[in-house]
Amino acid sequence: MLWTSLLAFTAVAEAAPWYKRQGSTTMLRFGCAQVVIDRLDPLVNPGQAPSPHVHQIVGGNAFNTSMTTGDVSNGASCTTCAFADDFSNYWTANLYFKARNGTYKRVKQLGAAKQFNDDFSTKIDGGVLVYYVSAQPGKITAFKPGFRMLVGDPTRRTADPNMKRQNCFRCYSGPNFGGDTAAPCQGTNDTPGLPSSPCKGGIRSNIHFPTCWDGKNLDSPDHKSHVTYPTSGPATFLSLGGNCPSTHPVRIPQLMYEVVWDTTPFNNKADWPVDGSQPFYFSYGDNTGYGQHADYVFGWKGDALQKGMDASGCMGAKCKDMKTQTIENAKKCAVKPVVKEDHDGWIDHLPGMEMPM
Ligand SMILES: *[C@@H]1O[C@H](CO)[C@@H](O)[C@H](O)[C@H]1NC(C)=O
Ligand SMILES: *[C@@H]1O[C@H](CO)[C@@H](O)[C@H](O)[C@H]1NC(C)=O
Repeated sequence: MLWTSLLAFTAVAEAAPWYKRQGSTTMLRFGCAQVVIDRLDPLVNPGQAPSPHVHQIVGGNAFNTSMTTGDVSNGASCTTCAFADDFSNYWTANLYFKARNGTYKRVKQLGAAKQFNDDFSTKIDGGVLVYYVSAQPGKITAFKPGFRMLVGDPTRRTADPNMKRQNCFRCYSGPNFGGDTAAPCQGTNDTPGLPSSPCKGGIRSNIHFPTCWDGKNLDSPDHKSHVTYPTSGPATFLSLGGNCPSTHPVRIPQLMYEVVWDTTPFNNKADWPVDGSQPFYFSYGDNTGYGQHADYVFGWKGDALQKGMDASGCMGAKCKDMKTQTIENAKKCAVKPVVKEDHDGWIDHLPGMEMPM
């Protein structure tokens, strides 16, 4: 399935198989520039500064060491996201290159490949591309104020066969998807772990969240059990998925993050480990990629996200009368780092590795 060519057709409601099946599918796909890099995790380690590993955070400026429950959008005055009413926070672990001498350097990010005439997301270097998809049968219920969740497990170092196509890496053989235009985690260059050879155009991370909610709890002790997968298992990005289980009957949008890591400055094989392994480590000490995880704190203003999910056939970073902002404006929004650490020089160890996760 050629994803980009299908998307090209969607503007005229044409023969995209998934799109045809789901005539009213909406896929919000928009950029959020970086709001801060900090060693904080208000979801897993609230009140703890520093937390066990470094994160890159995008979205609203209410991000903080602790984020109390309640409506996050009330505490934010700006956002780095293209949709101006989205004050949510989205974060993932940072990636580092480990040199032969044992020191680390943070891998920067690239903007997204251009789609849907969306310039904003091509300029989010340092940011995250966010998707909310309604490709499921029946009503999609947007998240409620105070909702938050976590996907993935930073302690995992082997592939989870049940999580196929939920968390993957695409090795770009060049710019613009490296020519692999399949849907996320469904391409021939997608692997569940970090690629084993240099990628000429960088490495793209795709992380999908669960799509069924218990309808009651905005969070849970492990930040996971209030959400789950359809009875048929995790849905692939553009598929329908099966029914939600009776314990988690409410269909929520398919949330997905996409990050393009600019690994290209580190592609010289002579700098790679002598044992032939690959040199990239996530900030929580993982060079397999299987521990990749992502955090979400919902913070859309009022019913702005519900309106988007109810709208029919929106694709990209524009949808009916949903408010947008320019990339220049978005980049003015920032949060001051709480934990003062160098995120750009060569460092002799990954910050926080001595702390229990
Ligand atoms: C973060 O929390 C501290 C302590 O409650 C507060 O002083 C500070 O203003 C908050 N920062 C932001 C960006 O909200
Ligand atoms: C370690 O290797 C990197 C990459 O070659 C180099 O830039 C850095 O200066 C080296 N650091 C030390 C302490 O030798």
